Amino acid sequence: MTVRIGVLTAGGDCPGLNAVIRAIVRSAIHSKDQVLGIKNGWRGLLEGDIAPLTHASVTGILPRGGTILGTSRVSPLGDARRLESFRVNWDKYELDALIVIGGEGSLKTARDMWRDHGYPIVGVPKTIDNDVGGTDFTFGFDTAVSIVTEAVDRLHSTAEAHHRVMVVEVMGRHTGWLAAYGGIAGGADVVLVPEHPFSLTRVCEFVRRRDQHGRSFSIIVVSEDARPHPDENFLTEELNADIYRHERLGGIGNVLAAEIEKRTGIDTRVTKLGYVQRGGSPTAFDRVLATRFGIKAYGLVKEQAWGQMTALRGNRILSVGLDEALRELKQLDEEIYHAAEVFFG
Ligand code: F6P
Repeated sequence: MTVRIGVLTAGGDCPGLNAVIRAIVRSAIHSKDQVLGIKNGWRGLLEGDIAPLTHASVTGILPRGGTILGTSRVSPLGDARRLESFRVNWDKYELDALIVIGGEGSLKTARDMWRDHGYPIVGVPKTIDNDVGGTDFTFGFDTAVSIVTEAVDRLHSTAEAHHRVMVVEVMGRHTGWLAAYGGIAGGADVVLVPEHPFSLTRVCEFVRRRDQHGRSFSIIVVSEDARPHPDENFLTEELNADIYRHERLGGIGNVLAAEIEKRTGIDTRVTKLGYVQRGGSPTAFDRVLATRFGIKAYGLVKEQAWGQMTALRGNRILSVGLDEALRELKQLDEEIYHAAEVFFG
């Protein structure tokens, strides 16, 4: 019997989404199943913006960033009318299953739509933040790490030429995976992550010590949600609200750079990498991981393993319950943080 599988990408985009879509479509074609592309995340199911995906639709998309389906942060939950539109379109398009490719937020929606509303759903974890539990890595992360690494490499030469401190603000939401991996790979002198509230006094000491030892430049990688230790009181209430209380994080880099310059007297500049970290072509690692996740997600649909999510453990692709995977945010591994810390100062 032909299975009709809906696929959607939801939340922030990341490199590798198209590789997953391609792998699902190509796997389904082998078994004469049908894949329907749902446009712009959950919104496509609320508005009936849905179209079949064929071999031709996925040709040439493997190296492309973004998502051919579009994405949004719209949720079907929390509103009876939205849930009703979801049901109407589900029936109209005669869906037998749904594959949700999303980060922590979208996967929680997927879990609730499966657990509380009974829809046959499987998940595929994606995010440059690498903060989804149950899997060693999410695709998109490796590409973002490469982008941060290249930026830190480039900032080294200009920092050295001008004898400056360079503060590099990176994404990652509430975890420091991206900052730590990018910082280690780029040879940063300090890495500040949300998991370890920082002491600015200590950071300034590192910078001064480097200066005294003839290394007249420093690179500081700071995660967008890194926070000063509660004993440090250089952030005003207003700045605190500005940086951390918005849905969109960011701004700690600017504050940090100004404060370091004030305390050390060393010329300090800030670079906020922003959305560059999410754009462009996926690395080979992410293409392979995304492809394996797509194939596995299709397999889970065939097994009717609803409420499961694809995962990477070691080098094996397996599945884990959405409930278990989403129990808590996957925080930065302590061993990785300590590896970065060895090179502080
Ligand atoms: O979760 C991925 C991510 O890129 C975070 O690192 C960042 O904080 C956030 O999304 C930005 O999201 P938006 O697209 O809503 O600005």
